[in-house]
Amino acid sequence: MSTTTRTRDRETVAGRPTDPDAPLLAVEDLTVEFRTDKGVVRAVNGLSYELQAGETLAILGESGSGKSVSAQAVMGIVDSPPGFVTAGSVRLKGVNLFDLKEKERRRVRGSQMSLIFQDALTALNPVYTVGWQISEMLRVRGISKSDAKEKAVEILTQVGIPSAGDRFDNYPHEFSGGMRQRAMIAMSLALDPDVVIADEPTTALDVTVQAQVMELLAELQDEFQMGMILITHDLGVVADVADRVVVMYAGKEVEQADIFSLYERPYHPYTEGLMHSIPRADQKGTRLQPIIGQPPDLSAIPPGCSFNPRCPYAQDICLEEPPPFREVAPNRYSACHFAEELFIRD
Ligand SMILES: Nc1ncnc2c1ncn2[C@@H]1O[C@H](COP(=O)(O)OP(=O)(O)OP(=O)(O)O)[C@@H](O)[C@H]1O
Ligand code: SF4
Ligand SMILES: [Mg+2]
Repeated sequence: MSTTTRTRDRETVAGRPTDPDAPLLAVEDLTVEFRTDKGVVRAVNGLSYELQAGETLAILGESGSGKSVSAQAVMGIVDSPPGFVTAGSVRLKGVNLFDLKEKERRRVRGSQMSLIFQDALTALNPVYTVGWQISEMLRVRGISKSDAKEKAVEILTQVGIPSAGDRFDNYPHEFSGGMRQRAMIAMSLALDPDVVIADEPTTALDVTVQAQVMELLAELQDEFQMGMILITHDLGVVADVADRVVVMYAGKEVEQADIFSLYERPYHPYTEGLMHSIPRADQKGTRLQPIIGQPPDLSAIPPGCSFNPRCPYAQDICLEEPPPFREVAPNRYSACHFAEELFIRD
């Protein structure tokens, strides 16, 4: 994207040596809770995944399943108090980010890891022009004013802002919703990060613009070989762009698989339920079956398997013993007591 930022040091994370054999990002046993007046909200319970360079990992789940909180914990921006990361590690190229001081984490954010929010208005400052906001990010990294402007225009052009030079001095409110989202993507990618987390990046946009923005993200990700975590509740989006999928339910990981094998055969009844609740081009005329019931209150998660009140396959053991998250077939992981035996309905 920019010659200056492309040459930055990729061998260290906040000045600490990286491990060349480590995955780009490794999240292990991540646990986050909110201590509120109404009790402890267990938002993320033992989430683990790995992300490689050039890979897109989707985190899929219903509203309130802990997707955004997990992303905030990975970025180090959980609202604390009331939020606390109570266990786990997040390693970027082998360096545990939880060992870094806040000042060091700030250096990592933006330059090595960035977050694209659902709503561009929360990320863009309304009182500064879009161009200024992007060039300022480059300037604090030591790039001269004129070079920063040139690069900002280049990035805005790259994300599809027409006449980017003329739009440089526009304020965020002078952009349409789709253009603002593109500007935020430009800002997130300006420093050429290794990892980008896109948290429902298109839900605020209308359907045609959604498809364009997703396509743009996929192209940029491919070009720059970033690792991308795409947070979504939309299985259709996952099918289009993800390599692998983590399915979350009530703050826990219930299934993890590569996208092709997941579609071929889910190993968790919740994933199966998600698949039956969206329209599929190859099954025209089939009635959709929404998952019955509601996700649990995270301050009162049911004992045993948290999906048991909604699961058509639940047995007695499901009411008592939490199913471990385990490998149920080669490279297939599920948290269901009966993953292997289940008759997954067509
Ligand atoms: N600041 C906070 N204080 C208390 N609880 C919180 C706070 N932030 C999030 N939570 C709780 O953490 C849980 C997980 O929230 P999260 O935002 O991660 O869900 P999500 O999967 O991203 O949902 P959505 O699809 O609606 O964005 C929810 O029960 C939410 O109420
Ligand atoms: S463990 Fe039991 S309740 Fe949970 S998903 Fe499997 S069958 Fe359903
Ligand atoms: Mg969210």
